[in-house]
Amino acid sequence: MNMEIHNLGGRPVIVGSGIAGLMTALHLAPEPVILLSRTQLGADASSTWAQGGLAASLGSDDEPSLHLADTLAAGDGLCDADIARRIVQAAPAAIEDLARRGVRFDRTPEGMLLLGLEAAHSRRRIVHAGGDGSGREIMRALVAGVRSTPSITIIEGVEARRLAVEDNAIAGVLACCPTGPLFFGTGRVVLATGGIGGLFLDSTNPSGSCGQGLTLAARAGAALADLEFIQFHPTALDGPDRPMPLISEAVRGEGATIVDETGQRFLEGVPGAELAARDVVARAIWKHLSNGHRAFLNVREKPGPTFARQFPTIASACRSAGVDPARGLIPIRPAQHYHMGGVAVDGAGRTSVQGLWACGEVASTGLHGANRLASNSLTEAVVCARCVADSVASSPCGQRKPAIAGDQPSPDPMDLRPLLSRALGVVREGEGLKASIRGLLPLAAASDPAAIGLMIAIAAMQRQESRGAHYRTDFPHRAAVARRSELTLDAAVVAAQDVACSLPLEEAI
Ligand code: SIN
Repeated sequence: MNMEIHNLGGRPVIVGSGIAGLMTALHLAPEPVILLSRTQLGADASSTWAQGGLAASLGSDDEPSLHLADTLAAGDGLCDADIARRIVQAAPAAIEDLARRGVRFDRTPEGMLLLGLEAAHSRRRIVHAGGDGSGREIMRALVAGVRSTPSITIIEGVEARRLAVEDNAIAGVLACCPTGPLFFGTGRVVLATGGIGGLFLDSTNPSGSCGQGLTLAARAGAALADLEFIQFHPTALDGPDRPMPLISEAVRGEGATIVDETGQRFLEGVPGAELAARDVVARAIWKHLSNGHRAFLNVREKPGPTFARQFPTIASACRSAGVDPARGLIPIRPAQHYHMGGVAVDGAGRTSVQGLWACGEVASTGLHGANRLASNSLTEAVVCARCVADSVASSPCGQRKPAIAGDQPSPDPMDLRPLLSRALGVVREGEGLKASIRGLLPLAAASDPAAIGLMIAIAAMQRQESRGAHYRTDFPHRAAVARRSELTLDAAVVAAQDVACSLPLEEAI
């Protein structure tokens, strides 16, 4: 099959059309950019599904230092405090910027922004749009903005499959579309490809989000950071649908409680109860389910009669699942929701490969540490998109002539979901991680999901402690010193070969 080759004359390529990708393209205007999207703009982006909004210290009782303190506490010792400070300080202006771009945030009759509460926030500081339809409304405004910006060339229906790299510098993007392979020659690429939920059986993410940006970066030689930290949302609607409908934490912020089949509020004894940090609530529910109980959200008393009006998307998901929240309880279970780890970036979004930036969930800025504070991720995407755009704009667009490789590993994660869900779930343990590594190693050269699954499993095996969202039954305590982790694909393969050479426990005895 012939490959179409496009020389972009130095224009940067943005891969991904969620909030991070769209905002980066808008900030770069009027510099010409190419925006690659697998589907129609935003159609398969997690951003579109976001119910929670953006966290920002906007209340009269709030200030960035309080937002920072909550972020650092949730991050369990692993946040980069300087990055976190910069992001929370920039958050209020980022919301104003979105409003200027046409996002219709929820407001009081007097026109003030309505501020919601979510777990582990000490103040009401979550800005929503359309109740629980924040992502949809933000994407509506940004897609319209991007479509009407002449400097942005949108190419839809194209999937980036490899980055061409020469001497540790980006030389182009190899992509696929229904008519065959394409090559975009460029020295500047921004990854904004979202998360990894598609690697799991139970996730609240679109199933097409399976870590493509991570593998693009990893196969290009970039360092990835904190991969072992995966956030499980405590309250996904426990019905037959996959991906699982999310029941926003904002519902608990309005007073909903978590009960079991006997009506007992089993989180009552946990500090913070239903509004404890997300990892704490997810583990408590997981444990209760593992002990043979069921878990439900009770919204009948609070928020009560206003539930369906405040949370129309969730009310509709309940109706589709045959649940009437006004009369009955909503069945819930934890589901993969967000990846704190990602491509290691500096404050300008630069990765360890020259000419490669990452923004949004695919990036690991250090804001989230071991456990993301609710609604900090959209804020991060919007704030960091500006830093990335400034950095891209001020970087030379030097072009290289790459050797274009033809092999494109398979992106289909379906067969791997059971293995990855078992080994890398809410609760992990060493032998399970090693078994997954032995299973993934032989597949990693030919399968992108196996390669990224392998890297996450190695990071989880090497972190011999429990911290934030990473909980190991064989190392249930925090280590004395908090260290972020960093890994390249080559280093992960070497570590996996060591594991493969060591005998599984049952064969050693
Ligand atoms: C939620 O609304 O519970 C999710 C918000 C988030 O993940 O930040």
